[in-house]
Amino acid sequence: MSEPTDEQAARERAVTDAVVASFGPSADDRYREVMTSLVEHLHGFVRDVRLTEAEWAQAIAFLRGCGDITTDTRQEFILLSDVLGLSMLTIGVNNPATGSGPGAATEATVFGPFFVEGSPQTPLGGDVSQGAKGAPCWVEGTVTDTAGRPVAGARIEVWEADEDGFYDVQLEGADKAMTGRGHLFSDADGSYRFWSVLPASYPIPDDGPVGDLLAAAGRSSYRPAHIHFMVTAEGLRTLVTHVFVAGDDHLGSDAVFGVKDSLVLDFPEQPPGPAPEGRTVDGPWYRTRFDVVLAPETSDTTTTSTGGPTA
Ligand code: BEZ
Ligand code: FE
Repeated sequence: MSEPTDEQAARERAVTDAVVASFGPSADDRYREVMTSLVEHLHGFVRDVRLTEAEWAQAIAFLRGCGDITTDTRQEFILLSDVLGLSMLTIGVNNPATGSGPGAATEATVFGPFFVEGSPQTPLGGDVSQGAKGAPCWVEGTVTDTAGRPVAGARIEVWEADEDGFYDVQLEGADKAMTGRGHLFSDADGSYRFWSVLPASYPIPDDGPVGDLLAAAGRSSYRPAHIHFMVTAEGLRTLVTHVFVAGDDHLGSDAVFGVKDSLVLDFPEQPPGPAPEGRTVDGPWYRTRFDVVLAPETSDTTTTSTGGPTA
């Protein structure tokens, strides 16, 4: 499409100026700042790509499709934010790095749609799989603050997909409810430990408009194998994160851009036989260690993670 003439460009600019001016002095300062920038970027985008009316209509139909498929348990707009990298960018903006190496807070990543309130409490050393399919996996670590002080009594929520890549909420049958999820509290010395199953990679829900978007872009809908963690402790910033399994084929192409190198851990295979907590395991099992470092609480604790519960 040809470049607009100066006269046309001025007419287009006048539209933007009028909309920006409409968020005038009567609006709250922050609201005006956010809306003015949003309008400038949206209008700039339309001018940059010389958006056609057919493309505008297609975008509206796409958003309508996102609305149509959204329910209490299916949030297509968050999924859209996830696959556009908007969730990870917002997390990055709100969780600035507290350094690297020892004392650095553990990095945050996406919350995802599969957290469920009311997971069962699991004793330290207990099993959060509760019958979820998969090879046994022992997870242990500590919770500390950035000064290296142990955090006792931190609430650690974990949830994960089974070996077929399904969360309990995607499976039929009352016996599947609350499998592969649980919460525990760190010990007096900040340590924690639990049994679970080795997680598997899986596709994000791709039967809606976001799946169409990925297909049109020739992008994979897969996420690399991971276990979700949400760690909360009094006076410290809530951490929403995952641990990823080193060697997973999808680490370089996570559909939601959630992988951070610091969160990729080894899950070495262990031989059958004696295992932690007095277990004897018949077949191969796996173990990993994830030491969590919580950042200090900031004044803005309303956003703990994109898509996650607010404090
Ligand atoms: C998940 O890991 O559960 C997830 C995250 C973002 C979008 C879809 C799924
Ligand atoms: Fe997940």
